[in-house]
Amino acid sequence: MTTPGIRMFVLLILQTLWLGTSHSADVGNPKIEEELLKQEGIYKSEGESKPEGYVINRGLLAYTDALSPGFDRALANLGPKDRWLDIGAGEGQAILDYYNRSHAVGDGESRERRGTKARAVAISIEDRRQPLWYQTAASLATNQIQYFFNKRMRDFSLDELGKFQIITDLLGGFSYTDQLSSFTEKVLQLLDLKGSFYTLLQDVKSEGGTNQPFYPKSPYLTEIANADGSEVKVCSWLKSITCVEVSCELKTHWKPPVEVYRINKVCSGVTVPALARISYGAGTPPERRFLLKK
Ligand SMILES: C[S@@+](CC[C@H](N)C(=O)[O-])C[C@H]1O[C@@H](n2cnc3c(N)ncnc32)[C@H](O)[C@@H]1O
Repeated sequence: MTTPGIRMFVLLILQTLWLGTSHSADVGNPKIEEELLKQEGIYKSEGESKPEGYVINRGLLAYTDALSPGFDRALANLGPKDRWLDIGAGEGQAILDYYNRSHAVGDGESRERRGTKARAVAISIEDRRQPLWYQTAASLATNQIQYFFNKRMRDFSLDELGKFQIITDLLGGFSYTDQLSSFTEKVLQLLDLKGSFYTLLQDVKSEGGTNQPFYPKSPYLTEIANADGSEVKVCSWLKSITCVEVSCELKTHWKPPVEVYRINKVCSGVTVPALARISYGAGTPPERRFLLKK
């Protein structure tokens, strides 16, 4: 069989298996369970055992460089009543920079203006806080910055987290989750009307289709397919969500290249086309395949 032929055959088999178990797409799939356990090990890794590729301390400049154009301005425009959620925050360095430095958001504010800044919430599966987090939190009003851990995005209730004007996810849950559509749905529920979600994925087929998988003979890191095996670009899938405006841009100076997404919520009737998990391989980030459900 040709490669596309094999892919389609495999997808049809997987789809049959998936339909057979209906709601619990692949619960009990031992291979996936094993990979999820390995992934858990990566989240918990410390010191020497932490894989080099598992970067947990990117600052605000890295966020500004990586995320869609306009992120820095949007952040600078937030006021004291606004809220910023960073999903998969690691050490929370981007939030600390927002409070402790004046350069990164380009508006030259002084330390005195810290009180006029948005409140910020970091979430991470594992607690990666360093002394600077505690010092900064202690120097600010109660709950001006908050750090939630020991939970995944899906485990939070909407009331627990509240609404946000800006949500970011730089190689956090959006890149790591095995439940991409329900994760995205949750993010969009937490996003205020007219709010923006800034995120990215590494090594995906871009909207323009100009790139190949970064590693020869390997697949893209995140792939979505239709039931007939045909490819669905992540950007097209995002653009099929209702009540959002989506921009996708390939940034090739990252290795592997990243496709960056800005998702603006324009009305409240958000519907995210559901994806079923087909495969998951632990990594930094993991390798994931999804099937677009009809
Ligand atoms: C590679 S680190 C990135 C940290 C930070 N954004 C940076 O760029 O330095 C991945 C982060 O995503 C978090 N994460 C992964 N899956 C998540 C999920 N489903 N919900 C919440 N956090 C998640 C991890 O716990 C970790 O904090």
